[in-house]
Amino acid sequence: MKWALIGVGHIGTAILEGWIKTGYRAEDVYISVSTREKEDSLQEKYGVSILQEASQLADCDLVLFAVKPQDLPQIAANYAPYILSTTLIVSVAAGIDLSSLRLMLGKTGPSSDEYPILRVLPNLPSKVGAGVSVMVANEHVSQEQLDQAKSIFLNLGLVMELPEENFAAVTALSGSGPAFVAVFIEALADAAVYAGLHSEAANTLAAQTLLGTAKLLLESKTPPAILKNQVCTAAGTSIYGIRALEKSGFRASVFDAVIAASERTEALAAEAAENIV
Ligand SMILES: NC(=O)c1ccc[n+]([C@@H]2O[C@H](COP(=O)([O-])OP(=O)(O)OC[C@H]3O[C@@H](n4cnc5c(N)ncnc54)[C@H](OP(=O)(O)O)[C@@H]3O)[C@@H](O)[C@H]2O)c1
Repeated sequence: MKWALIGVGHIGTAILEGWIKTGYRAEDVYISVSTREKEDSLQEKYGVSILQEASQLADCDLVLFAVKPQDLPQIAANYAPYILSTTLIVSVAAGIDLSSLRLMLGKTGPSSDEYPILRVLPNLPSKVGAGVSVMVANEHVSQEQLDQAKSIFLNLGLVMELPEENFAAVTALSGSGPAFVAVFIEALADAAVYAGLHSEAANTLAAQTLLGTAKLLLESKTPPAILKNQVCTAAGTSIYGIRALEKSGFRASVFDAVIAASERTEALAAEAAENIV
């Protein structure tokens, strides 16, 4: 499969490195970023091909946009005239839905309502192969195309298909979630430093505790409440800590964070849709 990766920033780099680490050929990927210097250095580092001319997109089975959501309308409009209407378009742009993507492409591209488009929301732990990519395809994506896209995202971790109406919640949970979790890890470590631990040990213990707990939950398929009860013995240290969390409104704060991020996703999606039409 030959494919193009437009944008090689945080997520684009994770996608590219995942592809190469799995043993696929780097030269089958045509990359494009904002400057020629950076393209040269990416070619030198990874052995990828550079998208020299937009017309090379016609040779690609799949074109993946990993640019900032606010840059996507312009970049998609620049490239759309060169993309065949049967080529699979993949976007990882947060908050840009399938119908907005079709409108963006349709503005300058072949006047087709039938673009196969896949919207994917990966997350930052994809950088270490422990990410999750949630995807939704429009009705024009064939099974073969879906499998081709999965061959890219399975290198980054788990892949899940969900309906598009779940994407605001997904963006808030698995997209923004690593930021929430990082704040929690930081707070755990800071508290342990306050209690006398040096910061290097505190950071490692805090992160490993999150990692191990998540692994245990996933592998044992145990609901979190059961695991919590297993740790909290009667009148023991953990239940005293849980009481302190509840008193300071920890759960309510987490609810607020996820709901705020979800609402913000919806607002940004509406703004993006308005800007296209
Ligand atoms: N970061 C996350 O955790 C995360 C999670 C889920 C989804 N996403 C989505 O992933 C997308 C990328 O996010 P990111 O964090 O990877 O952003 P980023 O690090 O800022 O990367 C953006 C990339 O776009 C490139 N670019 C800018 N203008 C371009 C142009 N005209 N032609 C080609 N490439 C161009 C940039 O090139 P240079 O390298 O030359 O600047 C850069 O490589 C966003 O839509 C975001 O919503 C991100």
